[in-house]
Amino acid sequence: MENKNKKTCYVTTPIYYASGNVHIGNSYSTIVCDVFARYNRLKGIDTFFLTGMDEHGQKIEEAAKKAGKSPQEMVNDIAKSTKELWKNLNITNDDFIQTSEIRHTEVVQQLFEKMLKNKDIYLGYYEGDYCVACEAYFTKTQVGEECICPDCGKPTRKVKEESYFLNLKKYSNRLLKYIEENPDFIQPESRKNEVVSFIEQGLEDLCVSRTSFKWGIPVLSNPRHVIYVWIDALCNYITALGYGSKDETLYNKFWLNGDEVVHVVGKDILRFHAIYWPIILMALDIPIKFKLYAHGWVLMKEGKMSKSVGNIIYPLDVTKRYGLDPLRYYLTREMPLGNDCLFSYDRFIERYNTDLANDLGNLLSRTIAMINKYFDGVVIKPKEKSDTFATELENLSKEVINNYNENFSNFRFQNGLTEVWSLISRANKYIDETTPWILAKDEDKKAELNSVMYHLYEVLRLVAIMVMPVMPDTSKIMFEEMGVLPENQAFDSLEYGKTSDVKVVTKPIVLFKRLDLVEEQKYHQEKNVAKKEEAPTKNEISIEDFSKIDLRVAEVIEASKMEGSDKLLILKVKIDDKPRQIISGISEFYAPLDLVGKKIVVVANLKPVKIRGHLSEGMILTASSSKNSLEVIQILKENNFAKIS
Ligand code: MSP
Repeated sequence: MENKNKKTCYVTTPIYYASGNVHIGNSYSTIVCDVFARYNRLKGIDTFFLTGMDEHGQKIEEAAKKAGKSPQEMVNDIAKSTKELWKNLNITNDDFIQTSEIRHTEVVQQLFEKMLKNKDIYLGYYEGDYCVACEAYFTKTQVGEECICPDCGKPTRKVKEESYFLNLKKYSNRLLKYIEENPDFIQPESRKNEVVSFIEQGLEDLCVSRTSFKWGIPVLSNPRHVIYVWIDALCNYITALGYGSKDETLYNKFWLNGDEVVHVVGKDILRFHAIYWPIILMALDIPIKFKLYAHGWVLMKEGKMSKSVGNIIYPLDVTKRYGLDPLRYYLTREMPLGNDCLFSYDRFIERYNTDLANDLGNLLSRTIAMINKYFDGVVIKPKEKSDTFATELENLSKEVINNYNENFSNFRFQNGLTEVWSLISRANKYIDETTPWILAKDEDKKAELNSVMYHLYEVLRLVAIMVMPVMPDTSKIMFEEMGVLPENQAFDSLEYGKTSDVKVVTKPIVLFKRLDLVEEQKYHQEKNVAKKEEAPTKNEISIEDFSKIDLRVAEVIEASKMEGSDKLLILKVKIDDKPRQIISGISEFYAPLDLVGKKIVVVANLKPVKIRGHLSEGMILTASSSKNSLEVIQILKENNFAKIS
């Protein structure tokens, strides 16, 4: 339901790791938060929009060392370029927090001490497997014998250290009750169910300090320890509002007495926000004011974006060629709340041509051209009653406005935009139904023709208002082209029939120039090849190093997906008639049946390991192809079982 009495809104993005450049995947969170913040402001709601950087941790310490900079220097550089990026993407954040800022670190230290004092945090011992890339500890069962991180697949490190622990167990029933009593706490529903079943399986106390590296916030009473990066990071949502500082005005206004607090998070970090964060707040006796919107991932056809596959797309790659609003539109329109969406240039161009160039762009230019041709650019509010088509259009507008508001207030932008585009399509159809070019031939039909122009104009004005949060520049151009009076551009004029007499521009511009798909495909192909050529090769190895590898031809006898894994295939192969089992991470690129009967190349002398409990006796050779996917190296000659190394 839309909360009509809402007066304040606080919306936050996750704070991004300061270890690399932000790509279109994580820009998605910021863009949708911006859409939400803009939407709320346009509705007259006092809105505070926060984003920032998560700057501590071992990964960042190590990245800085590699870059030959101090961690502080490195995170400042990254924060600077990220701020610049948000400006380029027309992001209207009210603040940008860096977790290395004193306004944050000092408060986090105090909060940690408070939890210590209240015995919600206690000193203990931790022994286990740690993944630097994910900044997380895993159990033996999770990492298996070969010590591989279950989340990112990188090797984990064994650590044993004295650590502080947060008592999660104490709060788990209270949290379950909270989730049950607040049905909109975690959205969408499917994500909430995941969280509930995770808690019900039993929470282990959380290790919340580290002694193995330095780049973090020291525990005030025991500075040998730095505070676990997730406690540090989660607290940004209140430290940025001044909680625990001399001036708590923003905290009081937007959190304590606020009407709506929304944390937007990707599905991979939901658990931290839905379990640790509310428990930290309970321990600190701070009210849980927030609700969570967990979104899916922007995926490429090969799966996740990754440096090694070479398929990362940065926002400026897209905006430099196609403009900013088409990217903002594509991301908000394509991603249903909670699910993943695919990014491909083909799909992007299709949406651009269909929705923006054809549907919206044409409606605007045709309408302006006709108003000029038939009425010298002047639109006059008709006195007579509307015709049936116009009544239909007017009724649809009312319905669309309601549904749009309902969807946009609940973060369902995809549905909201689908509604807006249904109105655009209806208006395009209205032109065909009323045939203005025929009406124009008959002097007696002048009033009718004027009425048609007026209705088209009104639909376009309403559309320009509704797309404002998503495509602010486009909406501004539409108002200019149509000569919409300032008072009729505001959200409270989102009502059919507000326009009196106005004049449109003489010559309409092309709002979105149609793209040639083949030309664009060629451009991206060439760009990909160039990118590949630029990709640095790994460190050189000597021929002696290489000759240690025993490469053999093997025939795949059986192949099946490993249960519980999206990436791994279990292959049964034969080398010189001897059977072997090999586990390979190629499930995203090959269906098991594609491989059976194929002759492939295997590293035969790789030390056997167990991967998720399955023995792997070798490695199959693959190479990345120009299409950014992995291809298994295949032997063409039949009956060739000779040693080839
Ligand atoms: N620093 C933590 C968040 C701490 S919040 C208190 C973090 N940072 S991150 O940079 O790795 O990710 C930030 C956000 O980007 C996460 O919500 C994550 O889900 C999102 N995304 C990263 N890749 C993404 C896509 N490909 N698609 C959509 N969102 C993705 O996690």
